[in-house]
Amino acid sequence: MSPVENKISPCVKNPDPAIPRHIAVIMDGNGRWAKSRGQSRIMGHRKGAESVRRIIRLSGDRGVEYLTLFAFSSENWQRPPREVKLLMELFISVLEKDIDILVENGVRLRIVGDLKRFGNRICKLIKKAELRTASNSCMQLTIAANYGGRWDITQACQQLAAKSSSGEINPDEINEELLSRHLVTDGMPDPDLFIRTGGEKRISNFLIWQLAYTELYFTDVLWPDFSKQNFADALQWFAKRERRFGKTSEQILSQALDNRHSEVSK
Ligand code: FPP
Repeated sequence: MSPVENKISPCVKNPDPAIPRHIAVIMDGNGRWAKSRGQSRIMGHRKGAESVRRIIRLSGDRGVEYLTLFAFSSENWQRPPREVKLLMELFISVLEKDIDILVENGVRLRIVGDLKRFGNRICKLIKKAELRTASNSCMQLTIAANYGGRWDITQACQQLAAKSSSGEINPDEINEELLSRHLVTDGMPDPDLFIRTGGEKRISNFLIWQLAYTELYFTDVLWPDFSKQNFADALQWFAKRERRFGKTSEQILSQALDNRHSEVSK
């Protein structure tokens, strides 16, 4: 992909409320995409990396503020060593080569997960890449690597338990908000839209706390084939959802009318 094709429209701000602020994606189907073409799974991941670049650009163009991609789960270490090695290489290549494109486009990069398992080289690259993009504010790209939702909740509980036993906090102060602030997604809004490609209809231990009220979109399209049109379809589907957060449809409607009245009378 040429640098011109990689260019995100100049920092779209104040997007349409029908556009999700935060999209979380499980990029499934790389292996099947390759198999159906008689190629190795590795070729599927390479092609999948192109779809990663595409969705970053498309999200930026539409004014999405946070894009979170599940690149490698805690369970993926069990895959054949050659495949794990290639996935690590792709990860390194994003950190080393794609970082310039992120910098040019004002994208902040964050890597979240149990990073201790990665070697020294990757940990250093992660720190460097995060630092280089730290002041960017057009969009935040978060890559979940060696991540698991249960691990995330557990590590948050460990931090809270330590603070509680040192007297820094009182156990009574622990509530949903405080726990959220100890998850790796601290500072980010919960995802509005979750997309899973590849036909499976499950969350697979991804952001299980944060997805509590997220709209869940599943498509049979395999990740390497996930196109601009497929992305537009997901956004169109999202725009039609009525997000009630436990309230009734009538309450949501009257709240929207109240908001409109107060905007008009400003
Ligand atoms: C799931 O497909 C995909 C993965 C486990 C890895 C996703 C990685 C990439 C898209 C490339 C690199 C991306 C970054 C951000 C560094 P699968 O292999 O489970 O497919 P299958 O279900 O068809 O076997």
